[in-house]
Order: sequence, then structure tokens, then C-alpha cells
Amino acid sequence: MNGVIFDLDGVLVSTDELHYQAWVRLADELGIVGFTKKDNERQRGVSRMESLEVLLEKSDRQYTPEEKTELAERKNSYFKESLNSLTPDDLLPGVLDSLKMLKERGIRTAVGSASKNASYILERIGIEPLLDEVASGLDVTKSKPDPEIFLVAARKLNLPPEECLVVEDAAAGIEAAKRGGMLSLAVGPLYETIGGTFCARDLSRVTDWDTILSR
Ligand code: G6P
Ligand code: MG
Repeated sequence: MNGVIFDLDGVLVSTDELHYQAWVRLADELGIVGFTKKDNERQRGVSRMESLEVLLEKSDRQYTPEEKTELAERKNSYFKESLNSLTPDDLLPGVLDSLKMLKERGIRTAVGSASKNASYILERIGIEPLLDEVASGLDVTKSKPDPEIFLVAARKLNLPPEECLVVEDAAAGIEAAKRGGMLSLAVGPLYETIGGTFCARDLSRVTDWDTILSR
């Protein structure tokens, strides 16, 4: 393995929770009841508009495409509001040590995230200098589980997909890695169930990087 591609929300930083809270705020405003963490699991890794569709499954009324655009923008404004208080303290456990260890070993690293806010988030948490490349929602037209985002990230790293490991917290992201011909490391609350090649609760719990990187 010569490269590692990290998803962002829920892998490097705890913004997965902020996405959830922004959707809950929108759900409350729309009078949508019964939108739960379980529904939110299906929004992990999925684009903003597709995440909105997951929320609207719980709504009794139909929305026009124009209304949906407004709803997605509204959710994004709530999410961005919450990003203003994001700091390096919001990095998830083990992230800094893992990035430094990979750099020391000469492994190239990238972010592969569906988020159009990825650059802003990386700036706020201050880890840009530890990453070689960033592929974000602004670089792709297809959403995970399509492998496009990871293939773009691998291309930016100048590495063939099979030499890259994907680190993901979302079922859609693990599937995208598979379709892109990449091995994966599943982390986060669903780490045991989303089918990664390897899994760990978070990056601080990865005990055997040697085995993973030798694949
Ligand atoms: C990530 C998150 C998703 C989010 C998507 C788009 O993949 O896991 O929950 O919907 O990014 O994020 P954005 O910041 O562009 O709305
Ligand atoms: Mg994620």
C-alpha cells in the first residue's frame, strides 16, 4: 500500500454529528417526526441532496425541486453555522498520530469526501499540512457508493487504486472503495457492520498498521 485515502466527516473530524444536528433542526422546522440516528446512518457519506431525500422519506408532503434546493441550502447554512466553532480539538482520536506516522513512512495521503465544505473544514481543524491531496464534493458528479471520489483522489496522488487504502465510516463509502478496487478500513460507530477489509473503532485503535500497509 502506497497511499491512504481518508473520508472526512466521521473519520478525521466529528462533523458527522454536526450534519445530524443540522438535519434534526430542519426536520423540526418541517414538522417531520421520527427522523432518528438510524435514518442518519444512511446519510453518512451521501451527498447533500441524497441526504435530503432520506429525511423527506419521513415527510407526509411532496416538495418541488425548487423547494428541495431551498431545504438543502437551509440545512447547509445550519451546518456551516456549526462549523464556525470547529477547532483542532474536534479531530477524532488517533488522527494526528496516524497522519504523522504515514508521513514518516513515506505513504501518500489524501482526503476523499463527498462534502463541498471539505476545504473549509480542513482549514478549521488545521491538518492540511499533513495531507498531500484533497478530493471533495466539488470534484465529482457521482455520489458514493460510486467510486468516483476515491478514483479522483488516487489520481491526484498519482497512484493506481489498488495501491490505496480507503478509511471510511459509511457503508456507502466502503462499497465505493470495493467498486474502485481498493481495500478499506472501517471506523466509527458502525465499524463492525459495514464490511471493511479491516476495522477498528477509531484510528487510535488500529494496532497493526504493518499488516494493513503490507497488503
Ligand atoms: C459527507 C457526509 C454526508 C454529507 C456529505 C455532503 O459525505 O458524511 O453526511 O451529506 O458529506 O456534505 P456537504 O457538506 O457538501 O453538505
Ligand atoms: Mg464519513
